[in-house]
Amino acid sequence: MQAWVIGNWKQNPATNHDAMALADALLSATAKEFDKKTCQLMVAPSCIHLATVSARLQDSSLLCAAQDISTHSASIGAYTGDCSAEQIADAGATWTLLGHSERRQYHKECNDILVQKMRNALTQDLGIVFCVGETQAQYDAKQTLDVLTEQLAVIPTLLQQAEQTADCADILAKRLIIAYEPVWAIGTGKVPTVAEVSATHEYIKQTVASFAAPLADINVLYGGSVNAANADNFAASPMINGALVGGAALNAESFLTIADAFARAKA
Ligand code: 13P
Repeated sequence: MQAWVIGNWKQNPATNHDAMALADALLSATAKEFDKKTCQLMVAPSCIHLATVSARLQDSSLLCAAQDISTHSASIGAYTGDCSAEQIADAGATWTLLGHSERRQYHKECNDILVQKMRNALTQDLGIVFCVGETQAQYDAKQTLDVLTEQLAVIPTLLQQAEQTADCADILAKRLIIAYEPVWAIGTGKVPTVAEVSATHEYIKQTVASFAAPLADINVLYGGSVNAANADNFAASPMINGALVGGAALNAESFLTIADAFARAKA
């Protein structure tokens, strides 16, 4: 089964020069030794670097994603500061992250907004890496599964709003990945146990499968302080289909060590 290892570059690096250097470092390593059948690699540069990075990666096995898209229009319009799904696709991305906890926290993204963003992404055939996860307080209060249930509710809403629910489910089956990222594990060096992540992923898979039959085999990635040293542990779990990597994705060597851990475990 193919794993997915995705680098979320967030608001990094500072210059286009450094973004291209990171893309080139990934390209030179993957050209030699990487087998995308066992592990699909993807990077999500910041919006300003998306077009140059995706052009550089165009003929490679690496995919390019945006970190977000506009809620307000899938195409063009008077939405200062936004980038639409159409513009993102034109810049060469084939996927977008949506619902990252930093978007939820700093941009107050709620389910209504995220349903609209998903609809916009699908109009441009963009794949969606939908991020979910609980805060430290919610984890401590043992509310993780309740939080995930509430966050995943965007999926049945999207299906209900679709003109053809069955067609929408078939499309989502091909274009939706869930990334479980406990907020307290992001950038902190703290990680849940593999057993905890596996149980949570099992819950996510069952919940998503209950929405529509085609969603029975959805991929669920883990994100939050994944690094070259702990990737083997996560990769060993059959419930963990890959990783969404932040800090460690900014260094080609550590990102590819993580990818290699998943490629070996899932081969
Ligand atoms: P870190 O890997 O830096 O913890 O970030 C995870 C993340 O937020 C990826 O989207």
